[in-house]
Amino acid sequence: MTRIALSILALGMAFGAFATDLTEAQRADIEQRIKPVGESCLVGDTSCGGSAAAASSGPRSGEEVYNSACMACHATGAAGAPVYGNVEAWAERIAKGTDTLHSSGLNGVAGTGMIAKGGCMNCSDEEVIAAVDYMVAGSQ
Ligand code: HEC
Repeated sequence: MTRIALSILALGMAFGAFATDLTEAQRADIEQRIKPVGESCLVGDTSCGGSAAAASSGPRSGEEVYNSACMACHATGAAGAPVYGNVEAWAERIAKGTDTLHSSGLNGVAGTGMIAKGGCMNCSDEEVIAAVDYMVAGSQ
């Protein structure tokens, strides 16, 4: 009996420590990941079909956009593109500020291989910005 009570106590403490050790970003990340579960609908329930449909056709993630539209240049360095994950190559660009990088992603960099939206004409502004954020996050 005592043994069980002790392990429950230990478990409680472990979870307590786990919860407080999370950073705000990790917490937000987890909330984001578990969110769709709460929104799931039962088959045949038309009252929530709208939101389920919207969730599945929502904007693509930065990673998805990167993989489909940016990787061709940013994974290889083609045309002098800063390579994803190359901290050195991105440092000076990141120093220009997030707004500038978002703008470069949306409008391109004049006179270079970086054309508007990296050439992804079916990408929304929001998706391009997410892809820029994804590249920046993975390159510092
Ligand atoms: C055809 C090749 C190509 C594709 C595809 C491409 N890029 Fe680029 N990108 C470049 C090149 C080349 C540069 C470097 C431009 C320079 O000299 O400043 C660059 C630079 C950038 C920069 C840094 C701009 C700055 O101001 O320093 C960002 C941000 C960027 N690309 C985002 C994207 C995103 C997001 C996508 C996909 C939606 C994408 N790129 C797709 C070639 C490409």
